[in-house]
Amino acid sequence: MTSFYVTTPIYYVNDVPHLGHIFTTTAADTLARYRRLKGDAVYFLTGTDEHGQNIERAAKKEGVAPIELADRVVSRYFELRDRLGFSNDDFIRTTQERHHKGVQEIIRRLEDAGDLYAARHEGWYCSPCETFYTEKELGPDKTCPVHGTPVEWKSEENVFFRLSKYQQRLLDWYDSDQEPVRPASRRNEVRSFVESGLRDLSVSRANLEWGIPFPGYPGQTVYVWLDALTNYISALGFGTGDGPLYKKFWQEGDVRLNLIGKDILRHHAVYWPAFLMSAGLPLPTTVFAHGWWNRDGKKMSKSTGNIVRPDDLIDRFGADPVRYFLLREMVFGQDASYSDEAFIERYNADLANTLGNTVSRVVTLSRGAFGGKTPPVPCDDNPVLEAARRLVPEYRTAMDELAFSRALEALWKLLNEASQYLVTREPWKVVKEEGPTEKLSRILWNGLEAVRIVATGLLPFMPKIAPQILAAIGVAKVPASLTAMEWGGTPNSVELPEPSPIFPRIDKKEYLGAAKAPEPATKPARSEKPVIAIDKFFETELKVGTIQTAERVPKSEKLIKMSVDVGEETPRQIVAGIGLAYQPEELVGKQVAVVANLQPAKLMGIESQGMVLAASIDGKPVLLHPDKQVPAGTQVK
Ligand code: MSP
Repeated sequence: MTSFYVTTPIYYVNDVPHLGHIFTTTAADTLARYRRLKGDAVYFLTGTDEHGQNIERAAKKEGVAPIELADRVVSRYFELRDRLGFSNDDFIRTTQERHHKGVQEIIRRLEDAGDLYAARHEGWYCSPCETFYTEKELGPDKTCPVHGTPVEWKSEENVFFRLSKYQQRLLDWYDSDQEPVRPASRRNEVRSFVESGLRDLSVSRANLEWGIPFPGYPGQTVYVWLDALTNYISALGFGTGDGPLYKKFWQEGDVRLNLIGKDILRHHAVYWPAFLMSAGLPLPTTVFAHGWWNRDGKKMSKSTGNIVRPDDLIDRFGADPVRYFLLREMVFGQDASYSDEAFIERYNADLANTLGNTVSRVVTLSRGAFGGKTPPVPCDDNPVLEAARRLVPEYRTAMDELAFSRALEALWKLLNEASQYLVTREPWKVVKEEGPTEKLSRILWNGLEAVRIVATGLLPFMPKIAPQILAAIGVAKVPASLTAMEWGGTPNSVELPEPSPIFPRIDKKEYLGAAKAPEPATKPARSEKPVIAIDKFFETELKVGTIQTAERVPKSEKLIKMSVDVGEETPRQIVAGIGLAYQPEELVGKQVAVVANLQPAKLMGIESQGMVLAASIDGKPVLLHPDKQVPAGTQVK
């Protein structure tokens, strides 16, 4: 059995948690849950970093003892753990005795290795980073390269660690086959930092009361990063008998994964492995640095003042949609932007529409046709099965590579295949024309089966709602293994509860309400929507279509129903609100740009299988045409 140890950074207690903090824990939790389903022995750790000058100052400002401040913030982390369903096995606090023992032990080992010495330390110091910078690294007017705030000149007697001695071993480690620092862009970044030369590192502070006294160096306190990094092993029992957890998950562990944000890459990919090398301990197998959540183009942080409090979102939308959004919207490893609009759009499109509607559609039809039960006959030969055989491995590979958004995409592809299948098989017609036949049973069973597989794949992401979806389709027992993603698990002829909306649609206008900016009177400087990565744009499949027939939808002024050739076996039926601007006759033969992978929708009861693109002048559409005639189905990009 593979042993899998995953950690988050331990969070400072001088601020209550924001969306950026809960993001790493959500990712770690999702991974831990996935690995448990995979059958691994999992240990998942998170915690708080409670020592150092910043905490001391923050507490002083509030007129409380540092430990009081820490206790208060820790209780916020506990509340969020409960609300978001984090399944961490332990929560380490650096003020705990067990942690102090671990720190003392690692220092003993660094000393034994001859890697510690006392010397005068002078340099530019950023207190929020608790880090010294060289003149070269500073921003304009002697500011911190991370925070942009002024640095201070510090000169004191410190204990130093011989970091320079580990330069070559670190470079060899980065280049080793297991590729321990990920993604590759981060590895290159840290590699060139180390290649440019390492200076020894000061690992103590004088005149700092709030911390662990440095063993053997009276008057010195352990540098907060040496203190904090040791949490990953002190929590397992290193320094307090090196017990079974330490042995299983660190000393002999198969996967030792430190998940971090890119802001603390240097600490985790240079200092941490060097300390471990010096102490003669195993290194992490992977340090994975994800990107930042930005808002209005800047990293979300307390000092910038652009943070989002998770509680507000959870109160309004529920914990699982927040978890889903965070992992779907960010390509793990790259930056992402948060906006309320992006949240609502994703919620409505993915959860309310695609997932919620598919569930309620198949459940309602099955209940109606089969006396409140699941269909009596299963099916194992159809296009949905084909899709599941292709997409479940895609999901698993993505999860193994920590590509959370890709894993979710694979599940949504399966949902889309299933809903396309239902559109083609028209069970709503079959039931009317033929009654509850075996044919109908097979069709609906396939729909339920796709939902069951998707909901199983969602268990790590939405630990509260995924079991509810399973219950809604008649699967009472929550699967304990990923093998449940194999085809065939939907039970026949079991009671289906009355469906209730799982993801009620959010009215965007109502939610954004007053917050929405008025229409600009002048030209905007740039796009008003958040910048997106190119791959996000390419999620939309755009094709050139040739309009073959067009007619007005009865009783509608605006709607025109067209059949549009987009280079597929059969033309698409597309309904568009262009009737005030165009006559049907003038449309036939014209070429238009079509959104080809849009979820089908009904307009006045007529199914539309795509959308034609038009410029919109005060709501009046002007269709877009290619510059020259091109074959129907030509890709637009
Ligand atoms: N205490 C140190 C870490 C010590 S680990 C041995 C620390 N704490 S922190 O409270 O500042 O949290 C940093 C971590 O929070 C980041 O590495 C990242 O995991 C998460 N994030 C904080 N803000 C973030 C964003 N805006 N976006 C994404 N993650 C962010 O540094």
